[in-house]
Amino acid sequence: MEKPTNRILSGVQPSGDLHLGNYLGAIKNFVSLQKDYECFFCVVDLHAITVWQEPKVLASKTREVTAAFIASGIDPNKNNIFVQSQVPQHAQLAWLFNCVARMGWLNRMTQFKDKAGKNSENVSVGLFSYPTLMAADILIYLATHVPVGDDQKQHLELTRDIAQKFNNDFKVDLFPIPEPLIFGEATRVMSLRDGSKKMSKSDPSDYSRIMLTDTAENIIQKIKKAKTDPQPLPQNIDGLSSRPEAENLISIFASLQDVSIEKVISEYSGKEFSIFKKDLADLAVSKLEPITVEMNKLMNDISYIDSVLSIGKEKAKQVAEPVLAKTKEIIGFLS
Ligand code: TRP
Repeated sequence: MEKPTNRILSGVQPSGDLHLGNYLGAIKNFVSLQKDYECFFCVVDLHAITVWQEPKVLASKTREVTAAFIASGIDPNKNNIFVQSQVPQHAQLAWLFNCVARMGWLNRMTQFKDKAGKNSENVSVGLFSYPTLMAADILIYLATHVPVGDDQKQHLELTRDIAQKFNNDFKVDLFPIPEPLIFGEATRVMSLRDGSKKMSKSDPSDYSRIMLTDTAENIIQKIKKAKTDPQPLPQNIDGLSSRPEAENLISIFASLQDVSIEKVISEYSGKEFSIFKKDLADLAVSKLEPITVEMNKLMNDISYIDSVLSIGKEKAKQVAEPVLAKTKEIIGFLS
């Protein structure tokens, strides 16, 4: 089976409204990857239902993530944009991987422990086996690289272990061992109200996050009210230690502007946060408003979104089908 050398797979869950953390941590990076890699961008609805999703909302969020991809600059003609549940090979390979992965490996997954918390007897089985499906998403395309944020590194490690074990057990060289691609500034965007917590759709305060659907006024208000400390911006990066809110705003600025944190600090050192926040608000509006406008336009043209997904589904299947067939043949299934 011919192996690709630079193929990317990544997934975004359609499980809530998209915020700045999703954009800077994932989607914005995808845009820059499309130049150098063959890209598969997947809306992972099978992952979303590991916790309860309202059926009507799920359908509209699935389209919304697709719209966000396109509005952010991912070219649907050059890349494969598709929905996970429409390419059945993901779920089929995930079952095969459930029989490769070991209980001990999955028991170590910190995200499951965090999400299940004290409720571990009452969460879905899917939430536990979530990482084997993620491994299938990646390996069904023989992807070589996966852009990951901090919170997904452990799942990628597990994917590598599954690929390795499958290859060893069956003495084949089918699956690549995919490499993580880690991004620069602001891959981890924190809450605007508490710099020690990740920006999240589940935070009760609207002021903790900037949504991709926010108006310019919303964005300006939220940045104005963002928590900071009374000191001005520091002289250098060391001056950010134990100032999580200051660090977060500066790294958001750096990421939106595509410059280093050092560069932002050197430009603003000694200045008051009120001045910095005004510039950050202008920058955020100038970068996000066009995306919001385009997303709204796309969401009014559902038939276009569905046509993109339909083409994406066919292109994805063309790659996934033979890989699944080969995997089944190796295992010893009748064809
Ligand atoms: N688990 C990822 C998240 O919650 C989403 C995801 C599913 C994914 N499949 C993937 C990411 C494959 C990268 C590659 O963010």
